[in-house]
Amino acid sequence: MRDLSVKRSVDLSALWSITALLLLTSASCGAGDQPNPRDVENISGIDNLIAEIAKIDFDPDIDPFHQNMRLGRGINLGNALEAPYEGKWGVSLDESYFQIIAEAGFNSIRIPIRWSGHAKMEPPYEIDPDFFSRIDWAIEQTLSRNLIAVINMHHYEDLMEQPQSQKERFLALWDQIAARYRYESVDLFFEILNEPTLNLTPELWNEYLEEAIGVIRKTNPSRLIIIGTALWGEMFALEELILPEDDRNIIVTIHYYRPFAFTHQGAEWIPWSHLWLNLEWIGDQSDVQEVDYDLKHLQSWSVENNRPIFVGELGTYYRADIRSRIRWTEYVTRQSEQKGFSWAYWEFGAGFGVYDIARADWNYSLLNALIP
Ligand code: BGC
Repeated sequence: MRDLSVKRSVDLSALWSITALLLLTSASCGAGDQPNPRDVENISGIDNLIAEIAKIDFDPDIDPFHQNMRLGRGINLGNALEAPYEGKWGVSLDESYFQIIAEAGFNSIRIPIRWSGHAKMEPPYEIDPDFFSRIDWAIEQTLSRNLIAVINMHHYEDLMEQPQSQKERFLALWDQIAARYRYESVDLFFEILNEPTLNLTPELWNEYLEEAIGVIRKTNPSRLIIIGTALWGEMFALEELILPEDDRNIIVTIHYYRPFAFTHQGAEWIPWSHLWLNLEWIGDQSDVQEVDYDLKHLQSWSVENNRPIFVGELGTYYRADIRSRIRWTEYVTRQSEQKGFSWAYWEFGAGFGVYDIARADWNYSLLNALIP
């Protein structure tokens, strides 16, 4: 996880210089001296110092790097609430899942949600109240176990295909979500959109994300917001991502599935992926070099832009051999942690799953790779 000591020592040295200046200023105005109200320079000097102090961030709760450390090791409760309807893709959420995730040592749960499938198509695009209650429940199950909850907007396919005509609806959905959870714990994070792609180009995405932040900030001025890159959440789209400079309460997310042919071998929804079957990930020099290169690039971007990184999805499909899956998972998660990134495994109990819902037990070798 990121070493915060550098930032803290900068803060402390700033505090010491300001305190020293304040002492000097008050010392120069000796006992019995009346401050001259017309001495505007003197007064505004002190005001400026006080303003400087106010700017210093002493509260770790609002430091996004600190929040990212708290996000830590996470898991996606995938194939449930982002399916066309819950259960359609084989996963219906059960209270016990939240408990076993907490007991396994995860710090956070990312809850993918298909809001667009549960809202009216006409203004004001009302979200189905029953669906909203179900999301309330999932958030409560997470927060009540001291886990951070990330809710996102997943599989909004119409927005990817026809961004212009869907924009108003997209923003109206966020308006409702943000208003509903405005008083919810600070441990609830909002992720604006999963994997922007197709006609929602990097340029358009920059516009839309800024407007979505504006909508959210009306009701949630200090909520932590997670923002992903365009081009399916690709890390190389980071170069095109433009975030509002003055909003620092943001974590940037990318998805990591490289080498794609290895992680997605035999995935039924990827044409020709059966040709990739039997690809192994040995963890030899060329395997790790590829991952190292990617993560180093991510880290440089993070440092240069002073934004924390959440690898919001990483995982391997069950068709790959389990030994390779374990090696890849262990390597990618440990290396991410060393670079200060948080992560969330894709996903809990379906095709990439680390938990076997039918057997009601973990795949312990994979779980140990995630949480040693
Ligand atoms: C998609 C899933 C997919 C996964 C891995 C997710 O973002 O929503 O449908 O299984 O990525 O490809």
